[in-house]
Amino acid sequence: MRLTDDRKEYVAGSLDDSALHVDPWVLFARWLDEYRATGASDATAFALSTISREGFPDSRVVLLKDAKEGSLVFYTNYASKKGQDLEAHPHAHALFFWPSLERQMRIFGAVERVDAVVSDAYFHSRPIGSQRGAIASAQSQSVSGRGALEAQFAQAEAIPEADLKRPEYWGGYSLRVERIEFWQGRPNRMHDRIVFTKSKSGWTAERLQP
Ligand SMILES: Cc1cc2nc3c(=O)[nH]c(=O)nc-3n(C[C@H](O)[C@H](O)[C@H](O)COP(=O)(O)O)c2cc1C
Repeated sequence: MRLTDDRKEYVAGSLDDSALHVDPWVLFARWLDEYRATGASDATAFALSTISREGFPDSRVVLLKDAKEGSLVFYTNYASKKGQDLEAHPHAHALFFWPSLERQMRIFGAVERVDAVVSDAYFHSRPIGSQRGAIASAQSQSVSGRGALEAQFAQAEAIPEADLKRPEYWGGYSLRVERIEFWQGRPNRMHDRIVFTKSKSGWTAERLQP
């Protein structure tokens, strides 16, 4: 296996200097729409990076469930490893990589829990099995085996549908975007990179060398 032989040219698009003057949130929404329109599975997936109490980075994939007013919303278990990391360091990084469009977006911002009513509404919009799964799983904790996990799910299955409630340890986080970089692959590795940084007066934009 010679990984050095894997090569491609990036030719799918460009970001000219007019992108320095757009609203990054409008550009984000457009790129997301364009990627979803390709029919890619898990098109809203992104890598969420956090920092542990000890100062070590960790990443995992989560799904974007809302994007509005400058914030990205995702749902998870507040007591999970990522939840504990966010307690210690309430900032996170979101990385979207969309190979078929030769695009990457890097997003940084402060994270906080969404309102309980918002989490309630989303929890109850999920399929019943997913609701039970969230109740059954102490996410990130160790378990003796698959059988023990199935037993936890069986307990959640015993709860009548009408009595299903969002557990307090499960809900949404909102990442308020402070910095967002759009990367569009270009030929000869001369890629386009436009980064927007939030300031008191609005967004400032600059082009970075590839
Ligand atoms: C495509 C995909 C989507 C996922 N979506 C979520 C999600 O929305 N929320 C979540 O908590 N975990 C999701 N996961 C699982 C996480 O990657 C991770 O395994 C889990 O959240 C535990 O991470 P932690 O132990 O670092 O907290 C997803 C995984 C994949 C591969």
